[in-house]
Amino acid sequence: MSAEMTPIETAKYVAARRAAEFVQDGMRVGLGTGSTADWMVRRLGERIKDEGLQIKGVPTSAATGQLAREVGIPVVSLDQAGWLDLTIDGADEFDGEFNLIKGGGGALLHEKIVATASDQMVVIADAGKEVETLGAFPLPVEVIPFGWQTTRTLIEEALDAMDVLGTSVTLRMKGDAPRVTDEGNHILDLHLKRIGNARHLALVLNQVPGVVENGLFLDICDKVVIGYGDGRVELRDLNDGSVETDQPGDKAENLFSDLAD
Ligand code: A5P
Repeated sequence: MSAEMTPIETAKYVAARRAAEFVQDGMRVGLGTGSTADWMVRRLGERIKDEGLQIKGVPTSAATGQLAREVGIPVVSLDQAGWLDLTIDGADEFDGEFNLIKGGGGALLHEKIVATASDQMVVIADAGKEVETLGAFPLPVEVIPFGWQTTRTLIEEALDAMDVLGTSVTLRMKGDAPRVTDEGNHILDLHLKRIGNARHLALVLNQVPGVVENGLFLDICDKVVIGYGDGRVELRDLNDGSVETDQPGDKAENLFSDLAD
């Protein structure tokens, strides 16, 4: 089955499985959302079955919660967990300082709350998510449905004074209707192309009435696990500046062991 995976799928898969090794007995773990995070959740389910790993998982979306239960992870709410040892989640973009754009899957609000309530956040991503400067990926902003068009206008006006290259804002749709988040809100996607000052932008956006949260994750992520299409995995740690690389030969047997035909 691994032979049928595209290079990007392989990259996501190997990054997710490598990061799942950070999880230890007794941990309360934030479970991210998206296709990469799904692989990590599945791997933790395997570890629970195979090794008797004892953990509690706090999902960042209804979809992840459902998958976590299906694979046998004991699920609790963030309030039940109180504080988390580790959150592992995907990202849409990350830069050299491990600042992120998230929310491509629409779960940025819960993702940000959960990641911020964790001792450590590990991002899992394919190598294509790395950027010099954030902003090529449209920045998701969660807004309440009431008066969302006014909120969009206020955001567009605010963007005129920001260090960005684009200012168009679109409502995320699902079919013919606005995409609705787990909190019943809408998502506006900001097509900025390049974000010159992410810190300033994040502060300004969150001051617009109607905005619940933006998808810039600044100073939250500690480690990035980057997967490559050839099965290589790179681990970068922001705190000690270390970079480690696992060659496919080192881990391939182990990494792909669950992919039955
Ligand atoms: C979910 O809201 C997002 O933040 C995801 O983590 C992000 O979109 C990455 O998704 P993939 O792992 O599917 O690329």
